[in-house]
Amino acid sequence: KGCKLVGCGSAVPNLLISNDDLSKIVDTNDEWISVRTGIRNRRILSQKDSLTALAVEAAKKALEMAKVDHDEVDLVLMCTSTPEDLFGSAPQIQKALGCKNNPLAYDITAACSGFVLGLVSAACHIRGGGFKNVLVIGADALSRYVDWTDRGSCILFGDAAGAVLVQACDSEEDGLFAFDLHSDGGGQRHLNASMKEKETDHEIGTNGSLLGKLPKGSSYSCIQMNGKEVFRFAVRVVPQSIELALEKAGLTGSSIDWLLLHQANQRILDAVATRLQLPSERVISNLANYGNTSAASIPLALDEAVRSGKVKPGHTIATAGFGAGLTWGSAIIRW
Ligand code: ACO
Repeated sequence: KGCKLVGCGSAVPNLLISNDDLSKIVDTNDEWISVRTGIRNRRILSQKDSLTALAVEAAKKALEMAKVDHDEVDLVLMCTSTPEDLFGSAPQIQKALGCKNNPLAYDITAACSGFVLGLVSAACHIRGGGFKNVLVIGADALSRYVDWTDRGSCILFGDAAGAVLVQACDSEEDGLFAFDLHSDGGGQRHLNASMKEKETDHEIGTNGSLLGKLPKGSSYSCIQMNGKEVFRFAVRVVPQSIELALEKAGLTGSSIDWLLLHQANQRILDAVATRLQLPSERVISNLANYGNTSAASIPLALDEAVRSGKVKPGHTIATAGFGAGLTWGSAIIRW
């Protein structure tokens, strides 16, 4: 059984923060940020805004492009590391879309690799589970976890949502040729936002022995990142992963129309393209406008490239995500 991408959509918050705006809160400047990262602006959710609503907006646009009614959707995958409900936000998206038949909806947490993992999961559900129309959404609001006093990381991130509709089709039309997925928990120290537990004053024990204090609740620390290590990791693993996926698909670099990487840093995009011997004209990049939007970055860049006519039906795209976990993965797809 095959699966193909039949629609895409995206949405970004209204609030725009420029490099100059950031230079008013941390010791930085537009030149440093643009030269080191390629980022000029990012969009940020304001306190009253909802990431779930942004995801719904992106999903509706994808359904509209695909000409698929919300009642035909039989699975919603929400790829996010910043859900607005600890138990998952996908069911809220399913409800807001108005899907009548209670289709399954669940979250996938894999940071900036989330969307690639979502695509592969959609394909597995279609091939092995008989699903027909799977909405894959990548949406994140990392601005809520940024340390706005840390100039080494706060300049990088923005908020956004992107979505694609993956549909079952005959095998001749298959649009997901091959994939390659990995993780390395040993690298978590280089990039994380770990849980911090708060204690109550209530002590608890059994038979007179004190076991400890009852937890009061918990929160997460701001993003802790060793930028240099993450940079080295990305430049090392991403080309390897894409080469492996290409080999599995029986393709070579020359058959790729577009390289669509997670938008983390222009220098990472350039270094990966150089290693794969792909000219810069074949690299999709929109991070100047949005920064690193985590799981949203690939579907957001895809949506812009499709709607502007850059990516055309039949084009082959090598896509790859990489980030916290550490996680990374690539997929060779046809639009
Ligand atoms: N403005 C001005 N100077 C700065 C800034 C800033 N915003 N940030 C750091 N500097 C200074 C540093 O203090 C340092 O000064 P020093 O030489 O006096 O010590 C100097 O600039 C160089 O700093 P480095 O950290 O070595 O700069 P680098 O070239 O590595 O660039 C960056 C930093 C942009 C963070 C880069 O390492 C990077 O992009 N790494 C990848 C990060 C990434 O993609 N993370 C997200 C992964 S996705 C996910 O899962 C969330």
